[in-house]
Amino acid sequence: MSVAREQVLEVRDLKVHFPIRGSFGRTTGIVRAVDGVSIELGRGETLGIAGESGCGKSTLARAMLRIVEPTAGRIVVGGEDVTAARGPALRHLLKVMQMVFQDPNDSLNPRVKVGAAIEEALIVAHVAPQDRPHRVQEILRTVGLPYAFARRYPHELSGGQRQRVGIARALAVGPQLLVCDEPVSALDVSVRAQIINLFQDLQDQLGLGYVFISHDLAVLRQMSHRVAVMYLGRVVEQAPNQVLYAQPLHPYTQALLGSVPLPSPKANRARQRIHLVGEVPSPSSPPPGCPFHPRCPIAQDVCRNEVPPLRVIASGHHVACHFAQANVWAGGERVGQA
Ligand SMILES: Nc1ncnc2c1ncn2[C@@H]1O[C@H](COP(=O)(O)OP(=O)(O)O)[C@@H](O)[C@H]1O
Ligand code: SF4
Ligand SMILES: [Mg+2]
Repeated sequence: MSVAREQVLEVRDLKVHFPIRGSFGRTTGIVRAVDGVSIELGRGETLGIAGESGCGKSTLARAMLRIVEPTAGRIVVGGEDVTAARGPALRHLLKVMQMVFQDPNDSLNPRVKVGAAIEEALIVAHVAPQDRPHRVQEILRTVGLPYAFARRYPHELSGGQRQRVGIARALAVGPQLLVCDEPVSALDVSVRAQIINLFQDLQDQLGLGYVFISHDLAVLRQMSHRVAVMYLGRVVEQAPNQVLYAQPLHPYTQALLGSVPLPSPKANRARQRIHLVGEVPSPSSPPPGCPFHPRCPIAQDVCRNEVPPLRVIASGHHVACHFAQANVWAGGERVGQA
């Protein structure tokens, strides 16, 4: 993937904190679901986002689309700052960037036929009434469904067909970028492969960019140009795809890769050191120092006291671990927040 590219999305130090309300509506704590994430995406590029359940992936996706409000940070879409956008600026955001959900039922009304559901999205995109039937037909063809499906209700479709309709709805406004939150996780393996192929074809045909969220690193390996690994609301490692899978440097990434066949013997040896035990701690009371230290088999005292900053280890390879290649780190440039 070329580095000099047209940037479609830039997220800087984004935070989403949810207040925990006790009796009488008093705030008794804060859930730091997303706690300082910076990512960017070029045209036609796929950024995979990995991490166990509860790491803040969905909240990040929802905040980027302003479904939940960011607490701090900046979101720039198509060159426009949309962090606090209202009215026309928010509509601009939703024309450039759309979301595909894990469960397409989240975006499909069971009482609305497929054709009408796509037409709703065309109305939002100000497509003239006389052009809409043709566009519905075209969009259905783009996602590999016959026009006859326009007359069906969502419950008359299989899971894979419903996800195709979910993608069709997202495509109706002509976006440059889709934020896909576990879009294939609920599908059978064979259907999953077909939908992954569809995403890849759409990228080739339309130059779409994807923020592709999955807890499944094998899926991300197939889909992504770059992968960011999240842990407790932060990115702990980010690298070009082939680098992350061949040379994972964060113990958390190495542990996650435990079940994925890796291309190099070196990477296979590295991941054998780490077995993931226990669960992700609550983001309402994250551990001090490195958030991964209670589960990290190589944690030292410094890990319990100091948050490791996200640092550049090599071009495009960022890692937040005190012990990721200490020798290379000496010349490392610090990026993002600690
Ligand atoms: N609306 C909300 N109010 C309070 N906590 C939330 C809310 N949404 C998500 N969370 C919490 O934020 C954390 C991250 O959740 P989520 O973004 O869904 O993670 P993931 O998609 O990686 O599983 C979890 O601890 C979750 O319980
Ligand atoms: S900073 Fe320490 S605890 Fe955190 S991942 Fe690295 S070695 Fe493990
Ligand atoms: Mg999620």
